[in-house]
Amino acid sequence: MAGSFDESGADLELVGVTKRFPGFTAIENLNLTIPAGSFFALLGPSGCGKTTTLRLVAGLEAPTAGRILIGGKEVTATKPHQRPVNTVFQSYALFPHMTVLANVEFGLKRRGIANALALAHEALRLVELDHVASRRPSQLSGGQQQRVALARAVVNRPALLLLDEPLGALDLKLRRQMQLELKSIQGEVGLTFLHVTHDQEEAMTMADTVAVMNKGRIEQMGAPEELYELPRTTFVANFLGQSNLFTGEVVESGSDAVTVDIAGLGIKVPRERAQRHAGEVTIGVRPEKLTLHTRKPDTAAGVNILGPGVIIDASFTGVSTQYLVQVPGLPVITVFAQNMAFGPVAEQGAEVWVSWRVEHGFGLADEPEPEARFAADDDTRTIAVQRRQRLEDELDEA
Ligand SMILES: Nc1ncnc2c1ncn2[C@@H]1O[C@H](COP(=O)(O)OP(=O)(O)OP(=O)(O)O)[C@@H](O)[C@H]1O
Ligand SMILES: [Mg+2]
Repeated sequence: MAGSFDESGADLELVGVTKRFPGFTAIENLNLTIPAGSFFALLGPSGCGKTTTLRLVAGLEAPTAGRILIGGKEVTATKPHQRPVNTVFQSYALFPHMTVLANVEFGLKRRGIANALALAHEALRLVELDHVASRRPSQLSGGQQQRVALARAVVNRPALLLLDEPLGALDLKLRRQMQLELKSIQGEVGLTFLHVTHDQEEAMTMADTVAVMNKGRIEQMGAPEELYELPRTTFVANFLGQSNLFTGEVVESGSDAVTVDIAGLGIKVPRERAQRHAGEVTIGVRPEKLTLHTRKPDTAAGVNILGPGVIIDASFTGVSTQYLVQVPGLPVITVFAQNMAFGPVAEQGAEVWVSWRVEHGFGLADEPEPEARFAADDDTRTIAVQRRQRLEDELDEA
């Protein structure tokens, strides 16, 4: 198989791309470079402009301003079929009256490629479905149909493959499995993948670079670990995993750390991990970086301590327990504690302190947005929780 898929991916470059619909700006001055052969994820809440971005790249939509380059060549004014791009949409859109093989072969035949049959079989082997080549799509499971759609796109060896929530219709287990398969297929064929999703876990597992998009702009971009460990804005800190955020005045701006007044306590953040060093700032720390104490810990250099507070909720989730701690004057603090011992570490109602190492904190560039009147649909976990809650309520009523 090696050698057949030897065409490499191409760079994708968006320069100052803006897309205005009548009365609505969907994309605002977007600048983006995706290096050839990379797996790039565009992550963001519903309506932030992900699909619009893909449609612009595919040529299905024309930008209001800006330029699009693929492999260094400007394609802004070219037709979709003139671009070395293939798209896998959420609905796989296989031809129902054709066999799996014919579906995959279709694009090659239309372009008059000589060894279409051999290439189609090869693409099917890649997604491990060559043994069902003679079936019709309706005789396959959802995940298998998804893989056929992928084979159909990959077989054309597009320099750039666009994936718009291609796993959206799959159940969680299949979704996880397909995520790993997609990633290994990308590694094998070496094409440039631009994957759109609103699922933060999916973006972090699959991509080497994640761009977090909010309201038509990219807020932050980088390797998954980098984004998680050092978010720069409130949106990124909350969209990608959970964060404990505190706002206060900087009381000391030292060469190593800035000290922020949080509920009367001096909380330190490493200077190089803080976006701002003066005035009112928002700082944060991830829930798994916190340690819970049932006695007041001794002050120590390099450790921040908040408390005393009260445990207002403790929920056992298997590998860890999630504690919610209320310290007077502060937003509720979330602590993830690994379950290292049998039985709860601390009970609801117990008096506790939380501590974390100074180097785990981060300082944000912005202030938290005022609480929205409607719950934002920007955190996939929250959406799942709300959905479950609604189901439970319905069941209760029935
Ligand atoms: N043809 C159109 N005319 C007017 N507004 C549009 C049009 N297409 C999209 N929009 C608006 O542009 C914004 C971005 O839409 P887009 O489809 O790119 O979102 P998305 O990030 O893909 O969201 P989702 O996760 O829900 O698919 C939305 O507010 C949408 O209502
Ligand atoms: Mg979309």
